[in-house]
Amino acid sequence: MHTIHQIAKYSMKKRKRSFLSVLCCVMIVYAGVQFMYLNDDYSPLQLLSSVENEATRLMRFMGQVHLQCNVSLPTNNASTWVLCLDQDVGLHLWSDETYKDGIVYSIGPSPDFSFERMVADNLSHHLYIFSAPVPYRNQLIRISNTTSVFKVNIVPNDPADFARNSFDTQTLNSVMSTLKHGQIDVLKLDSNVEGVQSYDVLRFLVEDGILKKVKELHIVLKLDKVEEDDIYSWYRALYGLFHTAGFRLYHSSTSDPLCLQATIMESCIYYMSWVRKPPPHILVMYPPAIDGSLHNEEDRMVNFLEQSSSQDHRFVPVPFNSGGQGMSIFMPLTLAPRKFRASSVFFFQGQNDMPVESVPGSKGIHCQAYTLSYEITNGNSLTVYQRRQSSSREEAKWEELTTSTWLKLLKESGANILVLNIVPGWTLLSQLSYHGIPKYLDEVVIKDPMFSAGSAVKQQPMYLRRKYSEMKRLEEFGLRLTQVGKFPENTLKFGTQEMYWLYFVRKTVL
Ligand SMILES: *[C@@H]1O[C@H](CO)[C@@H](O)[C@H](O)[C@H]1NC(C)=O
Ligand SMILES: *[C@@H]1O[C@H](CO)[C@@H](O)[C@H](O)[C@H]1NC(C)=O
Ligand SMILES: *[C@@H]1O[C@H](CO)[C@@H](O)[C@H](O)[C@H]1NC(C)=O
Ligand SMILES: *[C@@H]1O[C@H](CO)[C@@H](O)[C@H](O)[C@H]1NC(C)=O
Repeated sequence: MHTIHQIAKYSMKKRKRSFLSVLCCVMIVYAGVQFMYLNDDYSPLQLLSSVENEATRLMRFMGQVHLQCNVSLPTNNASTWVLCLDQDVGLHLWSDETYKDGIVYSIGPSPDFSFERMVADNLSHHLYIFSAPVPYRNQLIRISNTTSVFKVNIVPNDPADFARNSFDTQTLNSVMSTLKHGQIDVLKLDSNVEGVQSYDVLRFLVEDGILKKVKELHIVLKLDKVEEDDIYSWYRALYGLFHTAGFRLYHSSTSDPLCLQATIMESCIYYMSWVRKPPPHILVMYPPAIDGSLHNEEDRMVNFLEQSSSQDHRFVPVPFNSGGQGMSIFMPLTLAPRKFRASSVFFFQGQNDMPVESVPGSKGIHCQAYTLSYEITNGNSLTVYQRRQSSSREEAKWEELTTSTWLKLLKESGANILVLNIVPGWTLLSQLSYHGIPKYLDEVVIKDPMFSAGSAVKQQPMYLRRKYSEMKRLEEFGLRLTQVGKFPENTLKFGTQEMYWLYFVRKTVL
């Protein structure tokens, strides 16, 4: 509640200078207050009440890929093991056929050795096999002369387990340091290690940070019997894999299509392939909130908004004018006197509206205002235009703003602020993100209808999840949600519903 008071206090002093700013300031209300009625804490890792609920949650988590790998290489005809060689997210060195230095670890391989053959024989990379079932060892060693088979059982790095580093029982940590491997291209973790649960291995790999050294991960989830503990342990391991280790699922398959129903997990096998930390221009669709219900999606969103906007940052209003109508946007006070002296602010206006002009504001802040407009072209994609005449007396001329012209306009010396005061704001942001433009922005202000009714689509869990994923993508670009403000619609003539303004600000300047 701190920031709000400070903003209000600060703006009181400026009352005479900018009436509208004051109005805006006072009307900024904490999201927390607004959402209080919705608020029971979102806790995705809590134990659920029944084995069915646990199964549903796990199934939702692994049922959909988080991103699309556009260059993939199946290693057998059941496409259980699929390598991702995408330039953007996968093993990009591998797509060069002369590159043979890849390092692959395979733990507890199943008798179908097509994956092992593919990486070591067809592609000639270095393959290290551990925990191999005894009857297959001779067969495995002959795969290629770049294959090594170790009579070592890989176990979880659990400090409570004193047998973890003995002669024939090792953790992946100790194996990697013995073999002097700083990086592994592909880690395949099958389920054939006797007495070892893969989810335990995985959990400790995440906790130890060892997975930072792994680029691609292939795992098998096999439940011998459907027990709450096992299902929960898998969920927790996968949750950590995503949220702590930054791995994203790009391929999954099951031994039987029926296995995607939560009620029939028994004797099902799930194969999952993951890549680590794709670059931010690739959209990562976040896994559903718990079971993906509207209620849980809302809780996750509220939780995120509350956490983000509870930090203590002061904002300063910067006034603009459009055809006699005033408006303000807010900048973090920490920046305003320094960097924002010469900043570019991009606004949207209708093609027949007056251009936005900068008004000399407080604290010597000077901004260059750019007026943009948009058009919805094929399907769902937006074309953006820039108004070339800044004076309101001249007739407007609009020029298309392509990615390269965007990049020319965005200044390295000043700050760049994009105000998305348009209904398809998130769609445009998604488009700009795909071209990496948020990298050059210091602040993004976006108008959002939040949970208000109006359009049926906004009530859908999928819509919230997508928006949440876009917010997380902005975080990956270094922009953090710092303020959530609620504005009465008559102040700014945008839209017809209650709107929130979300302020994302570059982390390094806060
Ligand atoms: C794969 O292609 C789709 C459609 O063009 C695109 O949305 C997606 O981001 C691409 N994935 C990667 C990893 O580049
Ligand atoms: C590919 O699939 C077919 C039919 O499912 C099977 O008969 C064949 O053995 C498989 N080949 C390999 C190499 O696994
Ligand atoms: C891999 O190599 C084997 C023989 O060495 C060959 O039969 C198979 O077609 C190759 N697979 C691919 C995908 O190139
Ligand atoms: C491995 O075998 C290939 C031919 O299959 C050969 O060209 C290569 O020199 C061999 N490498 C080693 C280290 O023996």
